[in-house]
Amino acid sequence: MHRRTFFRTGVAAGLASLTRPASVLAYEPPPIRRAGPLRLNSNENPLGLAPAARSAVIEGLTEANRYPLVAMAPLREAIARRHGTTPGHVLLGNGSTEILRVAVAAGTMGATGTLIVADPTFEDVTDYAKPFPYRTVRVPLTSGFAHDLEAMREHARQADGPAVVYLCNPNNPTATLTDCAEIESWITEAPERVFFVLDEAYFEFVDDRRYRSFDQLAVTRPNVLVVRTFSKIFGMAGLRAGYGIAHADTTARLNGYATQITPNHLAQVAALASLEDPDVIARGRAANARGRRILTDVLDELNLEHLPSHANFVMHHIPGDLRTYQRRMRERGAWVGRPFPPMLSHNRVSIGLQAEMEEFAGILREFRQKGWV
Ligand SMILES: Cc1ncc(COP(=O)(O)O)c(C=O)c1O
Repeated sequence: MHRRTFFRTGVAAGLASLTRPASVLAYEPPPIRRAGPLRLNSNENPLGLAPAARSAVIEGLTEANRYPLVAMAPLREAIARRHGTTPGHVLLGNGSTEILRVAVAAGTMGATGTLIVADPTFEDVTDYAKPFPYRTVRVPLTSGFAHDLEAMREHARQADGPAVVYLCNPNNPTATLTDCAEIESWITEAPERVFFVLDEAYFEFVDDRRYRSFDQLAVTRPNVLVVRTFSKIFGMAGLRAGYGIAHADTTARLNGYATQITPNHLAQVAALASLEDPDVIARGRAANARGRRILTDVLDELNLEHLPSHANFVMHHIPGDLRTYQRRMRERGAWVGRPFPPMLSHNRVSIGLQAEMEEFAGILREFRQKGWV
């Protein structure tokens, strides 16, 4: 299979995990005595930067006095290759949150617009919409914690003027999937005034065979934007790099709202090195699967219901008051996810290293003994 095509599919990512040597899959950084808290609150990658990315950052420091222009074209080309397209379809951002901001800023096209999102979902999009003339419609997830596409579609149909539809798949905070075939059938029938933002931040963690990227649809349809990040599987949350894939006209239009010359040079070289590392995805997926298993085992042991996770975090039930639970966790040295209304009897935990998840399992058992969970 051609390498580009190989990288594109979720299934291919799964196969990559199976075909990498065991030493790669077993990789975890050497244990360190952690001075601070157990940080399971922001869906970060506990493995840290890929070794090649770390070296690239150190070498890249010699360019820190220059504007970040030399690595920008190679990065755009590498991303384009990854998605089987050309650099004109790639929009770079200071984290994928910048791409989301730009999509929202451009989305009303000067008129009053409707923003249609799931409830709950990742909040950045609705936050970025606040200064703009949007009417925001929050559509509860289905009983299976997927986006309620039928209801969202009806809102889009009724919207007067431009509508922006945010589909986060897998969804944050639930880590659940929405059926890609159903999304595609909506997109292919929707009028151009409906702009789809498909956030695939957790793409590489998914194993489900029915899951796939919408990158090819984004390249050909001016009303589709796929958003990706280097913060999750590539472990670069602190460096800030993300991108969008879109039709060349859309990329040009959205660029008008984007920050000039971004991301910074160190983020660019780290992203490039990460894309060139053949093991980074398999390593991250394997570590995530190990940590997630420890977590779901302890949740099962304690009879704490949890949603099926297709990402690097798990949403699980918490009896009692969520804020009290979070405060107690913090006092016990563990940071867990923020509240995600309306799911206020659920807590989101990010997956850490094996040892960290064992520590967290121990804390949960202690909480059970105290009658707190
Ligand atoms: C679904 C989703 N999209 C986007 C982002 C923003 O990521 P970035 O670090 O690339 O700005 C996050 C961060 O957690 C996220 O969960």
